Amino acid sequence: MPAGADNAFVSTTTGIRFSVTPAKSRATAEERARLLANPGFGRIFTEHMISIQWDAERGWHDAALRPYGPIQLDPATSVLHYAQEVFEGLKAFRQAGGGVAVFRPDAHAARFRRSSRRMALPELPEETFIEAIDLLIQHDHEWTPDAAEQSLYLRPFMYASDVGLGVHPGTAVTFLLIASPSGSYFPRGVKPVSVWLSEEYTRAAPGGTGAAKTGGNYAGGLMAQEQATREGCDNVVWLDAAEHAWVEEMGGMNLCFVFGDGPHARLVTPALTGTLLPGITRDSLLKLAADLGYEVEERRISVAEWRQGCADGSLSEAFACGTAAVITPIGEVKSAHGGWKVTGGNPGQVTMRLRGALVDVQRGSAPDPHGWRHEVRLNS
Ligand code: PLP
Ligand code: COI
Repeated sequence: MPAGADNAFVSTTTGIRFSVTPAKSRATAEERARLLANPGFGRIFTEHMISIQWDAERGWHDAALRPYGPIQLDPATSVLHYAQEVFEGLKAFRQAGGGVAVFRPDAHAARFRRSSRRMALPELPEETFIEAIDLLIQHDHEWTPDAAEQSLYLRPFMYASDVGLGVHPGTAVTFLLIASPSGSYFPRGVKPVSVWLSEEYTRAAPGGTGAAKTGGNYAGGLMAQEQATREGCDNVVWLDAAEHAWVEEMGGMNLCFVFGDGPHARLVTPALTGTLLPGITRDSLLKLAADLGYEVEERRISVAEWRQGCADGSLSEAFACGTAAVITPIGEVKSAHGGWKVTGGNPGQVTMRLRGALVDVQRGSAPDPHGWRHEVRLNS
């Protein structure tokens, strides 16, 4: 941990001054090791968090690194009523060489700004987003696990914190950043998952908030996820709102399909129509797949093509991709009109090759030709 007395300040290159209040007591190495042995996903948190306030007069101010802990909210706080909120999810990885690197924080910072714009929230400068992450990791880097499938999951979020029941964009806004040492999102790890095609519920419609990472999109999806669970599936697949014919994405992940196999395999992913989240993993895989010599395609793909492709063998693999889920193979599809197996219910070869290529870049065991790794300068 950097040296620093209570309420020391650190100034960043963008001129934001963070007050620094370290936690009074820290976990011992043994306590940390016990918690990191089986962290699950998003269940345990590090010892500090970042907060930054915004209002129209002062802009971004009162930036602080402080002990992780509960926040107090007035019952009339705007976000509790009208859900004006955005968030991000990104990961820091213990590197093969021992350091810590965050995967594509610039891309996440840019999406955070786009989501904020859509939700009528102020836009946090991208440099400040990254500086906040650096500062938190500098204090809590011991919590970055090094086991396979584990990482330090970072959750920046921002909400309207002004008090009152009028419906209007927040005039006071709070940004928070917390960090959670995490393992696999799906409890069964990289085992293929089963998915339920949601024809009854819709996640997003044209003109809506589907391309923004905002909590309401997830709240609106919970009933469909419950339905998927009742139908014996791990997750829900969203279809387009108008026809329920076109595949969009999964619960909290994008979708990819592999046509053909071997060196002639083609990676296809639904085009960004404005109703799905532009995933950073999706974008990374399009580039990595091209680097590996696969053809890549962004286009509409229908449920009928998915089903028919699996039946005639032209569609060989399907997988979900996202920060939390990494790459998770899909082994079975179910719907009100019956179901089918994908890749005989097994992980596909192209899926696993792409997964390996992505994880190797993230963990620093492969070159980084696209400049995706952001190494955090650690003081100790
Ligand atoms: N789609 C949704 C709805 C998500 O919540 C996520 C997760 O962040 C993704 C796609 C994948 O995005 P990313 O790869 O940037 O994590
Ligand atoms: C992520 O992958 O980071 C997400 O935000 C998805 C969420 C379902 C955990």
